[in-house]
Formats: sequence, structure tokens, C-alpha cells
Amino acid sequence: MLRRSLDPLPASQIREVANAAIGRDDLLKFWFGEGDLPTPAFIREAAKAALDRGETFYNHNLGIVELREAIAGYLNRLHAPAAAIGTDRIAATSSGVSALSLVAQSLFDPGDRVAIVTPVWPNVTAQPAIMGAQVVRVPLACRAGRWTLDLQRLLDAAPAGTRAVIVNSPNNPTGWVMPQDDWNALLAHCRRHGIWLIADDAYERLVFDGSSHAPGVLARIDPDERFISVNTFSKAWTMTGFRLGWLVAPRRFVAEVAKMVEFNTSCAPTFLQRAGIAAIEGGDTLIAETRARLQGSRDALVRRLAPLPGVECAPPDGAMYLFFRVAGCADSLDFAKRLVAEVGLGLAPGAAFGPEGEGCLRWCFAAQRRLVDDGAARLARFLGQPGEPR
Ligand SMILES: Cc1ncc(COP(=O)(O)O)c(C=O)c1O
Repeated sequence: MLRRSLDPLPASQIREVANAAIGRDDLLKFWFGEGDLPTPAFIREAAKAALDRGETFYNHNLGIVELREAIAGYLNRLHAPAAAIGTDRIAATSSGVSALSLVAQSLFDPGDRVAIVTPVWPNVTAQPAIMGAQVVRVPLACRAGRWTLDLQRLLDAAPAGTRAVIVNSPNNPTGWVMPQDDWNALLAHCRRHGIWLIADDAYERLVFDGSSHAPGVLARIDPDERFISVNTFSKAWTMTGFRLGWLVAPRRFVAEVAKMVEFNTSCAPTFLQRAGIAAIEGGDTLIAETRARLQGSRDALVRRLAPLPGVECAPPDGAMYLFFRVAGCADSLDFAKRLVAEVGLGLAPGAAFGPEGEGCLRWCFAAQRRLVDDGAARLARFLGQPGEPR
């Protein structure tokens, strides 16, 4: 009944676990990629003020110029002090996932080869697959307590003729961060073969090594070369419900993507774009606090989970997730449903992020610390341990 490229797409297994939990009110939910605190007031107020001014109309496909200028200023401060990134390279979009979808619709023909580092948030692989592209998965490995990429394996998976390579770093679900040297080598490879390099930078501000952002190549990109950065207000500014994101792309691509925005959402709502401007202008402290809070929760969670029998966890270098293996967990979807039913603990099954994730569970530690601690005690109880911290 539906298009053939949609047949193999699995329904969201995270949603499946969440749906199985409907009706339970003692549940601790760590399955989605967000915390439990609302967006800060200064951002909400900006949206409200715009509504009160009557900013309720259609606007430009690529976003209001004030937001595009704010994003350009922000990116130049963060990455490219030479002010190399102009507004003509930026499109504001109705969420990061919408940016990913616009990129896929604009770039991929059926049969195009797209190499993607996995496991990864399912939407990253689904968007090219929906367009009929051939997705080649390049798995990370967990070695000596760290997630690592065999770069040569990625390069081999993207020979000449490959349409695109997609890298999400910091990675959802593992927290793996691609080192700068690997980025440089990957960019050189893509340049040599005319391959599009697509960076999903949703978590670029959420790194735990004291840096202001994760390694990457945005600062080195010429205005017209085949590189796209997809980004979102959701994570760094705790704005998941606002559905606001952006992409940076070659100038000609941005002009063309305006058409695709027209056919999808036509434009991001103006009052939400005003909130995005407020977030960029006043959000530095918020980002620093978010990062520090996440780092504290990561450390606490790893401290509590690492000693549990059969649990193998690699501390994430970025993002907001712990992706850990549990010995004897052969079916992570079933395991996640049992966690809900037996101890009221809501985690995402690893298989939701691809076959590489089977046997693992993803824990989003963006919620308040006491909830994370309580959740860790529940997991310990499930695994037959007393659940006290070391
Ligand atoms: C890797 C990755 N990219 C992009 C996004 C898009 O976020 P949003 O659609 O909320 O802007 C997410 C959200 O979870 C993500 O995990």
C-alpha cells in the first residue's frame, strides 16, 4: 500500500516501550532525549511577546532575517572568527529532524549510497532510506571502556561515487565524539571524491572535556563546498518542544532548499524564531549550566551503574546519554518493557538505534539528578542488587 522504501522502516521502538507504559504513574522516564525542566523563562517570554505583537503570519521560507543573522553571528563566534559564515549559507528550519529531512529530500535519489556512522538516532538513517537511498552502516565499537570508530572502515565504506557520509558527533546514543584528526581526514576524503559530508551537530555544545564545542570542520568549509551542518535549538537550549533548528549549507543549496521548505512546512513559526533569537542572545549561561549539570549526572550514573553485575558502560564524552550493555540481554526491546513493568524504569532499547545496539539500553541523563539516582537504584533492584551507591 505504501511506497516500497517505507516497508523496511521499523516503527519507533522507543515509542513502543513508552506506549506499553501508558497508565503507570510511578514511572521514571529516561527514554526520550530531553530533561524534565521546562525551557527557561527568558526564552518562553520572547515567544509570548512575539505572539502578543501579532507575529502570527507566514514568513520567509528560510526564516526571518534577524534569526538567520543571529545564527550566523553565533556560529562565527563559536567556530569561525573571520566571519566566514554568512546568512546566505543558513536556513532556519522547523526542528533539527526537519533539517535532516530537507537535506535528504534535496540530495538523495533512489539507490544513492550513503555511509552513516552507527548506532545512531533512527531518524538519521531513516531519512535517506525514505528517499530510497542505500544506507551503509559503519558501526562504532566499544573497546576498553570507550566507544571508538575505525576511521579506515568509514573511508572504505565511502568509495568514489558515494553520495554522502553522515556523522553525528557527539553521538546519540553512545556519546562518542569524533576526534579532530578523524574529521580532517574524512573531509579530505570527501573533497577528493566529491562526496557530500553531512554533520549532525545537534549535541555539539554538550561535551564534557571543558571545550566550548565538539571537534568539527565547519570553520574550514568554503561557502560553496559539499558540506552541510544540521543543528537544533532542542538540546543546548532545552527547547525540544519548540521544534526549531537550522542548517548551514552551500549557498546554492540554501537557495534551492527554500523550495523544499515551501513544500514541507513553508516556514518555521515566527514567534518561535523570536524565541530562538532570545536563546542565542541570552543563552551562554544556560548552556554552561546545562553542560555542567549533564556532566554531574553522567558521573553519578556511571558511578552507580558500573559496579552492577553484568553491566558494561563506557562513559560518554558528549551528548546526554549513557549507552550500556547488560549481560544476558538478547532482546533489548523486551528487556526495556520488563524494566517498565517490574520496576517502573523507562529506558530506550538499544535495538532502536540499529542492529549494532542490540543488547544495550540507552539512558538519557538530562533529568534532575535525584530522579537519575532513583532510577539507578531501580535498575540495581531489577538486577538483584541492593542499589546503594558505592
Ligand atoms: C542526533 C540527533 N540529531 C537531530 C536531532 C533533532 O532534534 P529536533 O528535531 O528536536 O530539533 C536529535 C534529537 O533527538 C538527535 O538526537
